[in-house]
Amino acid sequence: MRQTLVAGNWKMNGSRSKNQQLVNAIKSGLREGTTTEVAVCPPAIYIPQVMALLQDSGIHWGGQNLSQYTEGAYTGEISASMLLDYACRYVIVGHSERRSLYGEDDALVAEKFVVAQRAGLVPILCVGELLEERESGETEAVIGKQLDAVIEAAGVPAIGEAVIAYEPVWAIGTGKTASPEQAQEVHAYIREKLAAQDAAVAEKVRILYGGSVKPDNAAELFAMPDIDGGLIGGASLDAESFLSICHAG
Ligand code: PGA
Repeated sequence: MRQTLVAGNWKMNGSRSKNQQLVNAIKSGLREGTTTEVAVCPPAIYIPQVMALLQDSGIHWGGQNLSQYTEGAYTGEISASMLLDYACRYVIVGHSERRSLYGEDDALVAEKFVVAQRAGLVPILCVGELLEERESGETEAVIGKQLDAVIEAAGVPAIGEAVIAYEPVWAIGTGKTASPEQAQEVHAYIREKLAAQDAAVAEKVRILYGGSVKPDNAAELFAMPDIDGGLIGGASLDAESFLSICHAG
């Protein structure tokens, strides 16, 4: 049985006082005995603050991005070992905003995936198609290519130690969620593609859905057989919404 994971991607939002309120509200509002694993990914500068607030809470935290390099003259970058130094469990890799706004291509995403995993972080690998790609029937080809780049660099067994997030680009921050059936179709495709290479990896890997997950659609999405939780943007900034999504698993 795969444990449901709900991870909050705060993106470039927050402040010390807002974070403190949000994290404390999540901590105190999370129902005892909830079987869903919960994680938050704050902006890097706030990771130490979040670590201090979440230590011993059972809630995990992670980074939103990392450098493909391990150390050195890379101004502005943050390495895998720095994230680990602040006890991050996860790091988001290849988010569509990194791909589209910062020019991260499949090869770079694959490099970051390998570096993260080698250091001991669990990458949350984001894949997803643009609206034009969906409309021209290329969804599977696009996702397949994004996955193949990582499989080629890291090998199939490595995927089993990671988390995949299917995030259709047209659904991110737009309020347009993929229907549970649309999402399930792609999740099943991802799992089948992996199963063709290694059935155990396919069975084990958690595939999250991301893109306008809200309290009123989370339960339906998470009930689909191949959807193992969510990567939550906007709704992760509001404690009540995030908690209700965490309790929908
Ligand atoms: P959203 O973002 O929930 O605001 O659509 C999801 C994401 O980008 O991970």
